[in-house]
Amino acid sequence: MTRIRELVREATAQLAETSTTPRLDAELLLADVLGWSRARTIAERDYVPVPVQIAAFTELVRRRAAGEPVAYLLGRREFYGLELQVDRRVLIPRPETELLVELAIATARQMLSGGVLPVIADIGVGSGAITAALATNLPSAQLYATDVSCDALDLARENLERLGLTERVTLLQGDLLAPLPTPVDMIVSNPPYTILAEIAPDVAMYEPHLALDGGGSDGADLYRRLIAQVPAFLRPGGAVLLEIGAWQSEVVSGLLRVHLPESSLEIHRDLADRDRVIVSRRTA
Ligand SMILES: C[S@@+](CC[C@H](N)C(=O)[O-])C[C@H]1O[C@@H](n2cnc3c(N)ncnc32)[C@H](O)[C@@H]1O
Repeated sequence: MTRIRELVREATAQLAETSTTPRLDAELLLADVLGWSRARTIAERDYVPVPVQIAAFTELVRRRAAGEPVAYLLGRREFYGLELQVDRRVLIPRPETELLVELAIATARQMLSGGVLPVIADIGVGSGAITAALATNLPSAQLYATDVSCDALDLARENLERLGLTERVTLLQGDLLAPLPTPVDMIVSNPPYTILAEIAPDVAMYEPHLALDGGGSDGADLYRRLIAQVPAFLRPGGAVLLEIGAWQSEVVSGLLRVHLPESSLEIHRDLADRDRVIVSRRTA
């Protein structure tokens, strides 16, 4: 008769070597198997799951101990208050990206107060996280979302459909800005920007390299190509907002100064006090 308290204790010990949040992981996985909230799993520690539930939990803990992310094991991840389906076709949305969304919403609201109904493009839509958060919080905005990966676009479509957001979002397959049918008021992107050789082995093992590898010795090759395309696709008065790696603010702001010389430039820091988002606003 194994109770929740023993199951969680043993799984926490098993996960301690590979996870920085072993207890949380164990509680989330067990809650998922039981079909309960995490709070109920914590409250009802003396409950005895049936053998088939214990077997399912044991298997999830084994996979988590091998490095598989909790979000893939659960098949979902919360982002900006929205629940998104995720699987190995897409990068798991990261909390840092919520700063990009916050700044994009603020910029779009400024445009709205100046009488512009912004048309927004999200480049590299992945699971649809940024697009879904913007479409939910900016009910009058029209959005385009591109990705080179058909797999990612399929999952983004599923997420947008479930959230009832497909009417204002057009999904487009292709390279960076090239699929856009028209210039836009705002370009938002969290492109691949990491250096594959330097990322955590479990991230490299499970998440799509197409979503991670920014190319070049500094991971910034995608920015080089993307920013070169921006002048042709950004309307006067428009803004470009890019998530960056902490080491990339100099190179990315340098590229923006070259390609959008008439624009303002701001660098925003994340909660860990690292450079995370660059905002550039075209003045003319
Ligand atoms: C870091 S992920 C971001 C996903 C999502 N926007 C998010 O923030 O969670 C980058 C995305 O860019 C896509 N991507 C990679 N190269 C691309 C390219 N050349 N053109 C368009 N999208 C690309 C990848 O498939 C991936 O979905």
